[in-house]
Amino acid sequence: IGQQIIQIHEVDSTNNYAAKLLSEGKLTHGTVILAEHQTAGRGQRGRNWQSIGAKQFTGTYFLKTDFLSVDHLCYLNMSIALAVREMIQSFTRKEVAIKWPNDIFIGSLKIAGILIETNWKNGRVEGAIVGIGVNISPVQSVGYATSLEELSGKSPEVFTVLDALSRSLNGFYHYVQQADFDYLKRTYESFLWKKDEEIVLEERQNPVPFTGIIRGVDQIGNLLVERDGIITVYHNQELNFESN
Ligand code: BTN
Repeated sequence: IGQQIIQIHEVDSTNNYAAKLLSEGKLTHGTVILAEHQTAGRGQRGRNWQSIGAKQFTGTYFLKTDFLSVDHLCYLNMSIALAVREMIQSFTRKEVAIKWPNDIFIGSLKIAGILIETNWKNGRVEGAIVGIGVNISPVQSVGYATSLEELSGKSPEVFTVLDALSRSLNGFYHYVQQADFDYLKRTYESFLWKKDEEIVLEERQNPVPFTGIIRGVDQIGNLLVERDGIITVYHNQELNFESN
């Protein structure tokens, strides 16, 4: 992973570019597409990923995941989040956490985001387009963001970030290939943001704030939240934690 590098100066979104290359049969496992500028970077839930005026890592890896059953897709997600977390951790002494499902946070500030897009065939995850955005220097326009520079006082080169990231991805992807899902789940849970702490949450469908405690994730990656001693299972996008 990360051996083949495609560099582009400007593109709408490296994920879109990867999808295009993939449809033309031009992507091999582990290739990473790196853009200096994205004009329409995309985030989760249809949001955008802004890069105005900031030095960022904006890249997309292609992983050929046809050995992976769709039921185990969450472990791919966990391995990527763990790798990005480890890479960020290597630049700072501060505690770096994974905010479920796959945002990378330091305290209440976001430093990196992940957008994974997969295509499925016969119950298998054929391939994964793994977009990763990391703030290297401060992003002005986003309120709750931080950057490597703010954390470490240094502003690493994009290729330094790429090297560290590819190394971490190789390490954690190995557990996906070995189907060591227990290890991935356990490790992911150990870095889960605000785990075992009382926090304020709200359900997207029923936005009334309540106090709950994140206890972990289940076998398919859903979040387990304890409320008044009872565990509720939440699917991706069912919860809002913006107030923390
Ligand atoms: C999120 O936090 O919601 C996910 C952000 C993912 C951003 C990266 S930047 C590289 C890749 N290309 C995109 O258009 N998005 C991802």
